[in-house]
Amino acid sequence: MKKTVGVGFALVALAAGCATVSEQDVADQAVAIMKTSFNERGQAKLDRLDQDEAQKACSIPPSAALPKDVALRIEEINLGTIRYPADGRLIGNWKEGEKIAQSGIGKQYSDDPKLPSGANCYACHQVTKEEISFGTIGPSLYNFGKVRGSSEAIQRYAYGKIYNSQAYTACSNMPRFGHKGILTEQQIKDVTALLLDPDSPVNK
Ligand code: HEC
Repeated sequence: MKKTVGVGFALVALAAGCATVSEQDVADQAVAIMKTSFNERGQAKLDRLDQDEAQKACSIPPSAALPKDVALRIEEINLGTIRYPADGRLIGNWKEGEKIAQSGIGKQYSDDPKLPSGANCYACHQVTKEEISFGTIGPSLYNFGKVRGSSEAIQRYAYGKIYNSQAYTACSNMPRFGHKGILTEQQIKDVTALLLDPDSPVNK
């Protein structure tokens, strides 16, 4: 027991000694270390470590909650990146959407860059009732359309959220599928259909 207390004091002393190093310095050092220790392989290039304004702001260790004005700015910038389909249709084919939601293929160095990527929605969300293997870092999307309806506003929200999650939640852990070129416009329509189409198993 005594030993544990001793270690605790040592850590506090160490933290106090480092008080002059800013959180930004620590974040910059972490990126510099990653840049020297990662190797490029296939489509996985080192430019993936280059951060945009939102990623930089979100990478600083949060000693306090993200300031409200910074969060609002991140959401505003990301909202401005969303490109809605020129044909005005946001709902595609939910059956294709289910395949995309199930697939974790794409963007890894070992994946064929010519093949379409999946979205791996199940890694973080419950989506349908049938699939019992899913992650829980994100909220359950089961019954999403049943609960929210499929008004134009909800369609635009669902499409926009998948396109760029940070448009609605600064520093979201959810990938920015359209903004980062992970999914195509048609794929985003298909996944939006999976969430909103009344025939989709999400709403059964
Ligand atoms: C790496 C984890 C991760 C992946 C992969 C992921 N999400 Fe998310 N998602 C989250 C988290 C965390 C949240 C809650 C925070 C937020 O709103 O950004 C969320 C929120 C959402 C929301 C908002 C829910 C609401 O109640 O308004 C929707 C819609 C959504 N995700 C859809 C999807 C879809 C569709 C996919 C696949 C195309 C997907 N997500 C992939 C982590 C993920």
